[in-house]
Amino acid sequence: MKYKRILLKLSGESLMGEKQFGIDNKRINSYARQIKEIKALGIEIAIVIGGGNIFRGVQAEEGGMDRTHGDYMGMLATMINSMALQSALESNGVMTRLQSAIEMKEIAEPFVRRKAVRHLEKGRVVIFGAGTGNPFFTTDSAASLRAIEINADVILKGTRVDGIYTADPEKDKNATKYDHITFDSVYSKGLNVMDLTAFTLCKENNLPIIVFNMDTPGNLLKLLKGEKIGTLVSN
Ligand code: GTP
Repeated sequence: MKYKRILLKLSGESLMGEKQFGIDNKRINSYARQIKEIKALGIEIAIVIGGGNIFRGVQAEEGGMDRTHGDYMGMLATMINSMALQSALESNGVMTRLQSAIEMKEIAEPFVRRKAVRHLEKGRVVIFGAGTGNPFFTTDSAASLRAIEINADVILKGTRVDGIYTADPEKDKNATKYDHITFDSVYSKGLNVMDLTAFTLCKENNLPIIVFNMDTPGNLLKLLKGEKIGTLVSN
């Protein structure tokens, strides 16, 4: 297996599935089953999930709310998604531990890096909630930071698109997908993979990112078995 320890970044918005808001049970169960499938390969799995299906700090700011306040609300939204995912995984028989970047010890362990690594070694899926615990950082930044901290081999960024394209495939019929692209080319071409804070963290720490479609069941397993799924971004 090429990747022994991965960090899977899931989109909060994708959790809505067919719904306009909140969590679609079918979608979250589909994610849980796909994670169970790759667990069976013996891969160590950490997860960061966004909160955009519940609350987005940036939009709150547009409505006049203080950005910091909105970002903290967004962090709480990621905890709701993390708890839902934890429950979905456990009802599929996958052992999990949830750690929060903001202390809320009645519902989650606090984030302790060494404990997280120990959980992974023991075969538990570790979910990191509440982002980085700081405003002005996205959950992509949290994913990059945690991935580096736990020495993950790769970040798998689950999205609703198949990978990174030369142009927006919905607008340009000639757009083609990259199988592999360097961090430098992503930057010079102005392609959108992650926000720059997250992106730079990965680049500077030599942590590859694979952008792939998580909403196509089976993709995650194929990717980890070595099939050409998504777009690999590396130095
Ligand atoms: P090891 O025994 O070290 O392998 O790990 P463990 O996670 O099984 O041990 P621990 O006794 O720390 O945890 C038992 C359960 O309590 C697990 O489900 C943990 O997630 C949970 N737990 C541990 N610390 C906290 C905490 O501060 N808050 C909450 N809410 N749960 C915790």
